[in-house]
Amino acid sequence: MNTHSLTITDNRTGKSYDISIQYGTYPNYGASINAIDLRQIKTTKEDFGLLTYDPGYTNTASCKSDVTFLDGEEGILRYRGYPIEQLAEKSTYLETAYLLLHGELPNVEQLQNWRQHICEHTFIHENIKKLIDNFQYDAHPMGILVGSVGAMSTFYPEAKNIQDHACRYQQICRLIGKMPTLAAFAYRHSRGLPYAYPDEKLSYIGNFMSMLWKGSESKYQPDPVLEKAIDVLFILHADHEQNCSTSSMRMVASSYSDPLSAISAAIAALYGPRHGGANEAVLQMLKEIGSVDNVPNFIKSVKSGEAGRLMGFGHRVYKSYDPRAKICKQLAREVFAVTGANPLIDIALELERIALQDDYFISRQLYPNVDFYSGLIYQAMGFPVGMFPVLFAIARTAGWVAQWQEFLLDPDNKIARPRQIYCGHEQRDYVPLDKRE
Ligand code: SDX
Repeated sequence: MNTHSLTITDNRTGKSYDISIQYGTYPNYGASINAIDLRQIKTTKEDFGLLTYDPGYTNTASCKSDVTFLDGEEGILRYRGYPIEQLAEKSTYLETAYLLLHGELPNVEQLQNWRQHICEHTFIHENIKKLIDNFQYDAHPMGILVGSVGAMSTFYPEAKNIQDHACRYQQICRLIGKMPTLAAFAYRHSRGLPYAYPDEKLSYIGNFMSMLWKGSESKYQPDPVLEKAIDVLFILHADHEQNCSTSSMRMVASSYSDPLSAISAAIAALYGPRHGGANEAVLQMLKEIGSVDNVPNFIKSVKSGEAGRLMGFGHRVYKSYDPRAKICKQLAREVFAVTGANPLIDIALELERIALQDDYFISRQLYPNVDFYSGLIYQAMGFPVGMFPVLFAIARTAGWVAQWQEFLLDPDNKIARPRQIYCGHEQRDYVPLDKRE
């Protein structure tokens, strides 16, 4: 008997089935059965067999991946085995993007080549710039990003050549190189400002800051504290295993769409307030609370269901403090030393203090997630709330492209086509219009 198996007895028939158990890196985190093995469990020959029902995929592994490891109970996040705390302290976003994509930290030459390849792709086609020009002045920048990245697929039709390594690599460099430019141009458009073109003499983050905030000076000088803070925030947001937007990207990639269209779908998923739109929702929530004195009543209204959810709290995987939130909390202090403290921070700290002592949140394992503090930092830097999910999208592009390539190289890869539990009408005949009630 294979001890790494389940023996399932179907009480409807008394029949037993042995279903083998498979493992990933950790025996106690990711042991699984192949769902298709359940289909043999039938009551009659005509029976379709057993499915699993799992709305939101709360307990379904959609793929095997080597990129990111999360342990929600222990609050662990590692990219290719490296703890997020070490990468945040010692790495850069561009180096981390290389690590996510290639699986190893780059040596000096590899990092120089990588940076050069990204720099070659920071400009966007002038017609995409004109596309951005034609959005309404108050168009949400995430809507502009979804549209402009999707439009990129028409400018680079060769991106469909997804089985060619060199072509994949070129699209990956295009996406990582152009995301900051698209984001900055969307921001400048919303402010009615002329575009500031890429400056390859600056770092990846410094160039992004220059395209956002360069004024009439001949050369923009990024503030080193803010440049480092954005770099760390991008590292924290670079990947997060099978979150909603990454899963959406994999779903679209599974039909062998080009990567530009797949990433556009990921951006659309990230736009939602339950995902990347949460840090924008956190700021709106803190503004509505208005003062530290109002926090206890607000907590009461969350618990009663009247005020909706405590945005920036809770997570499908983390059932303890999101390790990224811890780093953000420290980063806030460093940024506020330069920008001046965000007055909403006091409300956020009081919310966290009370919530972490309150059984409603403790019993539901609700702790601050990455979005609880990141928005406060971005606002203090001068970003409008609409740009928060855009910043998240720039950073997550590294994870999306790494997992896009991993999917294509996965021998198990199939077009995604979930099944359903049909609960509708049985067969019935058409009723002519004059016979209907
Ligand atoms: C991100 O997946 C990722 O990795 C995402 C992300 C990434 O890097 O890609 O980490 C980024 O999206 C972070 C999450 C940002 N979203 C928010 O902060 C929005 C607020 N959070 C919730 O909407 C919620 O916590 C989710 C969506 C994040 C997780 O929802 P789940 O796991 O589906 O949990 P659930 O909705 O089933 O809730 C379980 C219980 C419910 O209570 P009961 O019905 O059992 O009484 O917890 C309650 C919920 O009402 N609950 C909350 C709550 N989150 C869950 N109650 C109050 N405030 C909250 N924030």
